[in-house]
Amino acid sequence: MVKAIHLFKEEKSMTRKGLFITFEGGEGSGKSTAIQGVADYFQSQGQEVLVTREPGGVEVAEKIRGLLVNEVMDTLTEAMLFAAARNEIMRNLIIPSLQEGKVVLCDRFIDSSFVYQGIVKGLGIQRVKEINDMVLGTVQPDITFYLDIHPEIGLARIFENNRETNKFDLEGVTFHHRIRQGYQLLTQLYPERIRVVNAEQSKEDVVQDCIRTLHQFL
Ligand code: TYD
Repeated sequence: MVKAIHLFKEEKSMTRKGLFITFEGGEGSGKSTAIQGVADYFQSQGQEVLVTREPGGVEVAEKIRGLLVNEVMDTLTEAMLFAAARNEIMRNLIIPSLQEGKVVLCDRFIDSSFVYQGIVKGLGIQRVKEINDMVLGTVQPDITFYLDIHPEIGLARIFENNRETNKFDLEGVTFHHRIRQGYQLLTQLYPERIRVVNAEQSKEDVVQDCIRTLHQFL
């Protein structure tokens, strides 16, 4: 039986007005397409939407991304660099956008650190949480979609589409199975926040599932 660790302080910042939605999933799970579909939906409702990604989104974080996706390094260094990039995007883009009332859609966020550095690379969820506490403060995603797919299918999609690959994509299939198991564990730890979407269905159905869940949530 897994026990939920309370990630963040319970209260939400009083200055927040927008909605913060994050998307997680293994390689080739179709996050970008799902995000675009959800962005179109909110825009059709007259909402202002910001689409961004981690690591990156702002200049300094994009530079840190260059290191992270190309260089092999100690896992603690890696977790701290992801947190540093996260701090840049939080202070300079995500928090200001939420304060302006925008819907913020972010491709990966803290849960990627929990799974990749914390669970699979062995740093531990608690250690990753400690590293990220100062960065996140009271701001946490309102809802997180985890796009679940068999790693073989996800990796085949990447190679079929000739998408540029990085050091994470090139890990063996066992690594990607462990990533999937890591996400499955996280969904048990945070069932309220993290919603599982079957990413093996059509792109349209993935988007519809997300929108249906958002309707219930909102
Ligand atoms: P990216 O090309 O953006 O991958 P994807 O298209 O799958 O989102 O590369 C980012 C990689 O960084 C991805 O493999 C997951 C990894 N990552 C972490 O290990 N920890 C993190 O905290 C984040 C945000 C990403």
